[in-house]
Order: sequence, then structure tokens, then C-alpha cells
Amino acid sequence: MCMDSDRECTEHEWNPGVTGVHRVGPGLRELAEALLALPEQRCPHVGFIGYGDVKPGDKVLFAVDTHYEPEVVNLVVDVLRERGAQVDVLWVDVGPDRAFDDLDEIRVVIRNEHWSKNPRRWEGLPWVEELAERHGYNLLIHGKGGPIPNTPYRYEQFPFLRTEHLQQGAHAFPQELHRLINRKTWEKIWVHGRGAKVRLTDPEGTDITWTLHEGYYTGDRRGFTPDPVRHYGHLHGHPPTPILPEEDATGVIAGTTSHFGRPFPLIKLYLEAGRLERVEGGGRYGQAWQELLEATRSIHYPCFPREGLFWLWECAIGTNPRIRRPSNIHLLSSGGFEWERRRSGIIHIGIGTRWRGPEEAWAAERNLTYGHLHVHLLFPTYEILKPDGTKVKVIENGRLTALDDPEVRECARKYGDPDELLTESWIPRIPGINAPGSFADYARDPARYIYGEAG
Ligand SMILES: [Fe+2]
Ligand SMILES: [Fe+2]
Repeated sequence: MCMDSDRECTEHEWNPGVTGVHRVGPGLRELAEALLALPEQRCPHVGFIGYGDVKPGDKVLFAVDTHYEPEVVNLVVDVLRERGAQVDVLWVDVGPDRAFDDLDEIRVVIRNEHWSKNPRRWEGLPWVEELAERHGYNLLIHGKGGPIPNTPYRYEQFPFLRTEHLQQGAHAFPQELHRLINRKTWEKIWVHGRGAKVRLTDPEGTDITWTLHEGYYTGDRRGFTPDPVRHYGHLHGHPPTPILPEEDATGVIAGTTSHFGRPFPLIKLYLEAGRLERVEGGGRYGQAWQELLEATRSIHYPCFPREGLFWLWECAIGTNPRIRRPSNIHLLSSGGFEWERRRSGIIHIGIGTRWRGPEEAWAAERNLTYGHLHVHLLFPTYEILKPDGTKVKVIENGRLTALDDPEVRECARKYGDPDELLTESWIPRIPGINAPGSFADYARDPARYIYGEAG
């Protein structure tokens, strides 16, 4: 896709603010059409989601909820119909839009009954999936994240809640280049990481170390395999469950944002040998998390070596340089901070059971609490310390080192100016870290700053 256009600016700025150059990018229509140029891979990660297998006569069920902006849905429906598909649109009522509160993250991910009875935010609704099957649809477009279940029909997600999400152009970032960025990043973890130590730090206060034990490299953990193509855009910097008895992640994880909640006063999560032992701060989010920690302390989930729900498994690395925080970030309909966790170099930490892992089915059967909670790291440094003393940097101060790899730059040249393509479209601002002001003041009430800045 061309990013160097000489046309007049009619639609929006492409990559404004970073280079300081007002550039003209693809129009909205072209951005919607770009989704039809990408292959269908049942991959839930922006940049690898597309509807390119749609052909004339296809029956498509496009199922969204009332927090989606009608304009963005209509735009994509139009291009699907132009391709010759018959598209039925289903709007599921999820209640009025509203501002986030402190406990939304917990509300959308923690359960003690089966997720099919009380679906969590990201997963497709079982009745919608059944409807698609019963009525012989060829393709279901539905859902915002998480793995896509096996179905007899094609199934792709639609995480673009707003026109603004599509306008960022992250889904149309050159896929060959995006793949290479992922492969280069993954090579460090899969090849250099084996048996090595990881040190993860972040200026908001994270400092934690773990070993990437050989025993994790068996290739049977979803997404922790030699070439995790369906996990590109969400690379695992810590092995997913089951967690081994020798797990040793020890240190502190600290941050002020999660996937889907109001920003919270700085939370500090203290881990020992892989398990969360204590929650400090975090306002009401922290308090509710501490209560869940106490309530689940004596439960022995089958995926963990000892008791407790809150073990570290997710350290997911975003890889898309085009992602930006949306403007209405205080509202549920923005998709929350979950959208921005996709930006290259941003890490989201997840502690608890793995999304739809066997341990969640086990807990649901017994009506035991399950799920995992997030904290985002916006400026992480992720470094691998090999047994021979050499160091391999995967992320430095929030920048994915693969973006500066000569091969990646060479590949970028095919699509435009490597400097522009490989510069993040958006870098968050945090007082005391990369913006004026005091971090301590920010950390007491980050919502005031984040929402103030967005508004
Ligand atoms: Fe994740
Ligand atoms: Fe997660």
C-alpha cells in the first residue's frame, strides 16, 4: 500500500506528530478495502486480520455490538458487498456507552462459571457462533480478541470499534515487513532465550527477572513454538501455561493501566518464584486484586506447580508501529487501553489462568474463580542474559530493537521510507518519564493526566 501520495489531503493525516510532516495517506475507503487484500488466517492480531478470501456469493454474518461506531461497520460492509458478498449485520445490545470505572478489567475477565454462560469481553458469543452455523454462513466476522474457536465456517474478528481505529492504518501496515519484525523479535526469544535469563524493567517501577527454562521449549504451548505465526503481533516473552516447578520469576511489576479499565494509581505486584505474593497500591483495582489473591490462595490449579491463581504467564510484546491511543479513551466504546497494547514494544503482563486454557475449563467446571488480570508496560526494556554472559536486547525503553535491524530496514525500503515506516506513530507521554512534571504526582492519579491529555 502506498504511503507516499502526492494527492491533496482529503481524508486524514498519515502518521502526524512524530515526523512533524503533514503527510497524505490512504483514504478511509482504501483503508477498508485493505482488509479485503489480506488473507484470512483466523489470527486475532491487527495487521494479520483480513477478509481476503471473500468471493461473490459468500454469505457473511457480521456480528458487532452497540459499542461499535456504525460508520466503521458500514464502511466495511460496503466493501464486502462490493466484492459480491451478501452481508447480514447483527447488532448485539451491550447497554449504553459510559466512562470506565476502576473495576471494569475485573468485570470483563474474571469468572467462576463457564465463559459460554457469561462470555467475557473479547470472545465471540456462543449463540452468534451457533447462528452462523445453523444458517450456513460462509464467513462470520465477530469478536475482538483471543483465540478463534474451530468452526465449520470461516471466522475472522473485527477489533476496529471506531473509524479512528481503522484510520490509523495499523491493519494495512505492510504484512511482509510486519512478519519480518515478528520473526526477528521471536528469533531472539526462541533461539537466544533458551536456557537464558530475562530481565524486564520499566521506568514506572518494573524490575523482574526469570529464566526461560529449557523445559518450556517443548513446542506444545500455544504461541510458544518455533514459528508462532498466529501469534504474530502478540509474542510471548514469558512462556504460557503450564508453568514448570522450576519457574523463578521474581521481582516487581508496576504500572498504571490495564486492558479495559480506568487508569489506576501506581500498582506494584510483588512476585516470587513465578507467583504473585502481594499487591501494593493500585487504588480500587489493586484492592479488588488483593481480595481475589486472598480468596484463591489455597486453590491448586492444574497448570501451576503450587496453589494460587495469580501466576505470571503472559508477557506479550506488541509489534505494530502504527497503533495509537484513541481519542475517546475514557469511554468503553474506545476499546480502552487494550487497543494500544498492540503498539510495537509495548508489553502487557497477564497474571492468572490462560485465556480458554484447560485450566479455565477445569475451574469453570468446579465454579472456581479463574481469569487473568493485566498491567501494561509502556516503556519496557526486555533483555536476555545468556549463560555465556552475552546480552540480547529485545526492547529498549519501549522501542522494539527489531525495528532497527538492517534486514528489517532493507525490507521497509520496498514500501517507502524506512525511517517513517519504522517510527512509532504514537509514543505515550508520562510526566517524569518523557513529559514535564512529576511521576509521583502522575502516579497518584494517572486518569487525570491521561484523560486530560486525550480531552
Ligand atoms: Fe494478551
Ligand atoms: Fe491477556
